[in-house]
Amino acid sequence: MSTFQIRVPATSANLGPGFDSVGIALSKYVTLECQPADKWSFGVPEEDQPHIPSGKDNLIYMTAIYTATAYGYEELPPHHVELINDVPVARGLGSSSTAVVGGIELANQLLNLELSRYEKLQLACAIEGHPDNVAPAIYGGIMVSSYDGDHLDFVQFTKGLDDLTWLAIVPDFHLETEKARSLLPQEISYKQGVHASGTANVLVAALAEQNWELAGKMMMKDQWHQPYRKELIPDFDAIAVKVKELNAAGMYISGAGPTMIALFEQLSEDKLVLLQKELPAYQVEALQVDSHGLEVTSPSLPSRQAK
Ligand code: HSE
Repeated sequence: MSTFQIRVPATSANLGPGFDSVGIALSKYVTLECQPADKWSFGVPEEDQPHIPSGKDNLIYMTAIYTATAYGYEELPPHHVELINDVPVARGLGSSSTAVVGGIELANQLLNLELSRYEKLQLACAIEGHPDNVAPAIYGGIMVSSYDGDHLDFVQFTKGLDDLTWLAIVPDFHLETEKARSLLPQEISYKQGVHASGTANVLVAALAEQNWELAGKMMMKDQWHQPYRKELIPDFDAIAVKVKELNAAGMYISGAGPTMIALFEQLSEDKLVLLQKELPAYQVEALQVDSHGLEVTSPSLPSRQAK
């Protein structure tokens, strides 16, 4: 078996009120450089070593062996996987989804499973429990999905996204999804549910119509999770005011946080530099949509492209 590379984009989930359902693939990547070896190992960048294991307890391997088992295999041919990671861990940019999607593709390649994208997404949803990160990581673009633990429906949006800037404002601390989910109420009233889903409906309709101003407005009106989670992000309200002053359409907590994403129809270099200067405690980075999703390249075996 020759070497090959798997590349998975970062993702930003929820887009405000699209809780556990809506997500976008963004132009930051994890690349898995895979080569045959005597035993399984993962090369992890130094800064990620406290968080990402280098042995068989790595989420990529665990997902790959889960996928292999689901298709009747007990083992995977051993490989060394070198990780080139541009996606910060536990910051709300889909780092664990990149591992899950990367692991599924790893098994797909090593066992020649010839999985379709839909089959990969079904596996990924069974592992993650919700599709909002894994769906765009596999398909690219914006994905609006519904998963009931068994059946999966989705719509992909790609039109009109190329000129937008998704400005990531990344705080210098980690937030585990589990902790961020534990802040959410167990129940809300019927009336609150109707109101919150109305906001999500308008978000999705605005995305479909490419009405970014309205989409941005809905991002800031979320009632499902942001009112509870923003308390964990000290400057959330002040940063929201600042980006609105610079003509952002809106801003939301990316996934479970703590990263914030501000949506701009136009963001000049001057404004970007100004924000970077005014928010020195944050990594401020202008990202674009990734419209392709998961990709596989192999110098010697071009037929191994992800389907
Ligand atoms: N929709 C998820 C959440 C994304 O907000 O908790 C993180 O997995």
